[in-house]
This record gives sequence, C-alpha cells and structure tokens, in this order.
Amino acid sequence: MGEWVRLCGVAEAPGTDEVMEAEALTREGRGVPICLANVEGTLSAIGNVCPHRQGPLGGGWVEEGKVLCPWHAWAFDVTTGEAAAPERGRVEVYPVKVEGEDVLVEIEVAGGEDDVEG
Ligand code: FES
Repeated sequence: MGEWVRLCGVAEAPGTDEVMEAEALTREGRGVPICLANVEGTLSAIGNVCPHRQGPLGGGWVEEGKVLCPWHAWAFDVTTGEAAAPERGRVEVYPVKVEGEDVLVEIEVAGGEDDVEG
C-alpha cells in the first residue's frame, strides 16, 4: 500500500539526462530522500542514498541510461534500482507520475495496519 506525495513542481524537475535530490514528505511527516532522474526524457525516482557509502545519488549524473553516484560512480538502473556489475547493491524504486504542475511519487506506508487519516 502506498501514498502518493508531491515531490516537486514540474518546472523544478530535472531536464533530460539530469538528476536532482529531493525529499518526499509523507502525511505522517516522514521525509524520504529521493533521487529524481530524467533518463532520456522519462522521470524516475529512486532512493537517494547510495548503498556503497551513502553518497547522494541525486548529486550525481546520468550516463548511458543509468544514474551514477557522484562519489565512486556506481551506476544504477532506474527501473530496477540495481547497481551495475561488478558492484552489488540496490536502491528503492518509487513510482512517479505528473499531475498538473506537480511531480508525485508513491511511498510505501510503513506498518499499513492503521488507517491513514484522511
Ligand atoms: S558512495 Fe556511491 S559509489 Fe561509493
């Protein structure tokens, strides 16, 4: 079960083959660090924290269809979140949609037992 939250405005979103750091704020006030990437014209959202040494993926760049970490250049596939071999690691992949002027991402709601207040 997920919750769609606003990440940024369409106008602030990265241009083709650019990335940016952003934070999705859930209704319960939890901040989720996101790397918003525009790979060949398509927006994707993955976790911003590199599994290698916690580098900020949204501070990196796009190369050959992958997001590269700015610290040691591990390359991440934005559809699977997997690091390219020989590295091993994975970041979360979040569904993205554009609604009007807003870019939204779907964040899993922890627990899921309690009803989220409307
Ligand atoms: S911290 Fe990302 S590649 Fe090392």
